[in-house]
Amino acid sequence: MKTITLPGLIDPHVHLRDPGQTHKEDFYTGTAAALAGGFTTMIDMPNNLVPITTKKLLDQKIANAKQKTVCDLGFHFGTLGDNFDQFEMVKDIVMGLKVYMNITTGGYKIDSAKLIDIYKAWPTNKPIMLHAEDDVSDIVLKTLKTIPKQTHMCHVSNQKELEFVLKAKEAGLPITCGVTPHHLFLTDKDADKLGPFGHMKPYLKPKKDQQFLWDHLDGVDIIESDHAPHTKQEKLSSQPPFGVPGLETTLPLMLTAQAEGKLTMDKLISLLHTNSAKLFNINQPKNTSVLVELSETTISNKNIHSKCGWTPFDGMAVAGFVKEVTVNNKVVYNNGKILAKAGSAKIIK
Ligand code: NCD
Ligand code: ZN
Repeated sequence: MKTITLPGLIDPHVHLRDPGQTHKEDFYTGTAAALAGGFTTMIDMPNNLVPITTKKLLDQKIANAKQKTVCDLGFHFGTLGDNFDQFEMVKDIVMGLKVYMNITTGGYKIDSAKLIDIYKAWPTNKPIMLHAEDDVSDIVLKTLKTIPKQTHMCHVSNQKELEFVLKAKEAGLPITCGVTPHHLFLTDKDADKLGPFGHMKPYLKPKKDQQFLWDHLDGVDIIESDHAPHTKQEKLSSQPPFGVPGLETTLPLMLTAQAEGKLTMDKLISLLHTNSAKLFNINQPKNTSVLVELSETTISNKNIHSKCGWTPFDGMAVAGFVKEVTVNNKVVYNNGKILAKAGSAKIIK
């Protein structure tokens, strides 16, 4: 049995649904899923049932999280372009600002004409996280050139979007990007098979876009799970919501790609740890590590800690899995069991 030790992984893009939609996930089950997947630090998105666009809502969310988390957790703030008075008050307690420029789960899409005002108003160099698919890239470029604030392009999923980021980097603009495991491991063909369980934003793309992502992984900064759990029942309804869970399958999938020679172990560590630590200025507790067993295993809905209880990768063979997680010298996860107490982890800012 071969094992390796990795640093505590960091996922800067998850949707833990708490408060408001805790039938899908909550701070305990979401952070438990993180530990099971080797993540010891995460940043939660603001598209809750009531979007987190005020200091008051953020304070309530943080107070609630403090009671429940088993891994370190930070928060992105939300904006619909009408809460600039809140920015100064929250800038020291959030990790970034999330802006939706396309339709997705929840109705938080901004009028893209407002992007420039949002950039002007955001009072810190903490990243602006953009959900901006290729149809809005001109506006993003114009805005970034006018106001070059640190920008992270979330879940880049096709050739055009990644080319946009690569060009912007070449031009010296302060931009990074993330890619999700589902866009690296699934295509539009899988979407046909998976039905609602392969339905997310951005949509799964044709093989040639997927190949472009793999061929240009050097230009990708972060693998972000975009963990977006919904119940099976919701997915099977007549209007299934966008989003798939990802926290527990991200590392096993990336280990599989590494075993197949698609990326080096060093690149895997920078995508899942180092680059997020730098971008969001995260200092993890000393003596934090993830023990991974490198032996073939099959992803199964049965082993999922996320409250949603399913994964689009059910039945897929992968090259390794998380055996044990240690934070600050304490074992917090071992062989499928969460050992950390609810509320024992840190809220980061
Ligand atoms: C996310 C969700 O369900 O909150 N859905 C998704 O398809 N990715 C929202 C989002 O990040 O777009
Ligand atoms: Zn998301």
